[in-house]
Amino acid sequence: MRAVVVTQAGGPEVLEVQDRPDPEPGPGQVVVRLAAANINPTDIGARHGMFPPGFDIEGPPYTLGWDFAGEVVAVGPGVSDGPPASGGGATSPLDPDELAADPTQPDSLVDAASADALIDPTGDPAPLAAEADPGVGAWGPGDQVVGMIPWYVAGGRYGAYAELVLAEAAWIVARPETLSAVDAATIPLNALTAQQALGHLGAPQGAEILITGASGAVGAFAAQIAVAEDLKVTAIAGTDDEEFVASLGVARVLPRDADLSDIGRFKYVLDAVPLGADVFPAVDDGGVIVTTRPVKDEPGRRITQRPMLIEHDQELLKRLVEGVAAGGLVTRVAKTMPLEQAADAHRAVEERGRKGKIVLVP
Ligand SMILES: NC(=O)c1ccc[n+]([C@@H]2O[C@H](COP(=O)([O-])OP(=O)(O)OC[C@H]3O[C@@H](n4cnc5c(N)ncnc54)[C@H](OP(=O)(O)O)[C@@H]3O)[C@@H](O)[C@H]2O)c1
Repeated sequence: MRAVVVTQAGGPEVLEVQDRPDPEPGPGQVVVRLAAANINPTDIGARHGMFPPGFDIEGPPYTLGWDFAGEVVAVGPGVSDGPPASGGGATSPLDPDELAADPTQPDSLVDAASADALIDPTGDPAPLAAEADPGVGAWGPGDQVVGMIPWYVAGGRYGAYAELVLAEAAWIVARPETLSAVDAATIPLNALTAQQALGHLGAPQGAEILITGASGAVGAFAAQIAVAEDLKVTAIAGTDDEEFVASLGVARVLPRDADLSDIGRFKYVLDAVPLGADVFPAVDDGGVIVTTRPVKDEPGRRITQRPMLIEHDQELLKRLVEGVAAGGLVTRVAKTMPLEQAADAHRAVEERGRKGKIVLVP
């Protein structure tokens, strides 16, 4: 099979398309024939050889990619062949109660004082707290699925930029027929992060929140889920993208270059870009920022920074995928590009004003 391999850390040119042995599923594993693999900012960091601290990454060489959709072609021992775990049909629109902020999350967060350990040079910590149990769900050849490799936790040993993707059975959920594989591949990392970030934020119903990077995948999912949870959202758009952000149902849209010292102050801020210290002027004294890149506190402001650490959650992923399939959540694809053009696709991802994800197809 063909796979995109990072042979050494560096720019897009280090991405090589290579012939690799077809993967064999071990106990609790599946092999998925790729239909679509999303490119995320974290892949750019990994291509540069930059990871959050505390992860034991093998390589380079390694294959990039967290998010994928495709068809199960083989299952390993312990993965039963039966009806797909999520039934395959989108039945309900986004249900705010089901997708409500997780009240268990804030307590588990690292506070800002100990957050320095999470800072990585890419601004993209994104570690997963724990690997999911293998073997969850019943999968067999022919099942259409979407999934997420917890790439850091998996030590760089798995990757979605490949014709055949090896994954733990617990990393996948059924792809409803009404959802294209390309759209599906944009969901896992970004929607899970958005939902979990709102849980960390802990804003009560009706509260006003600020979301930065609301044109991006994480920010746009967060904006939609927040609106569904009855939060009053002010959202900062990307380059020339106010119209899309307004379509998400937010209360107020600001342009990318808004002066953040002049937009009012918010007690709750989800810094999805992340802007870091630049967002402080828009935060209330004593306010909370959920961020992927904690920065030094501003003295006397009593601002709490909660670093965001995505955790794989198969049940939540199932609900989010079904929410998109049912039209309760929208996702956006800028374009698809062939796997062979992964280097050019990375160049395109690094450009401003992309307006949606770039998705690799075989
Ligand atoms: N820690 C975690 O668990 C976790 C998980 C997922 C993602 N992340 C991180 O979250 C961030 C967002 O990811 P994503 O997938 O949503 O990225 P994305 O789809 O590329 O979107 C990023 C958005 O931010 C905007 N933006 C970039 N720089 C900006 C700036 N200086 N000022 C204002 N807006 C700016 C972009 O607008 P333009 O097009 O105008 O530049 C774009 O709309 C990334 O850093 C990613 O690594 C972390």
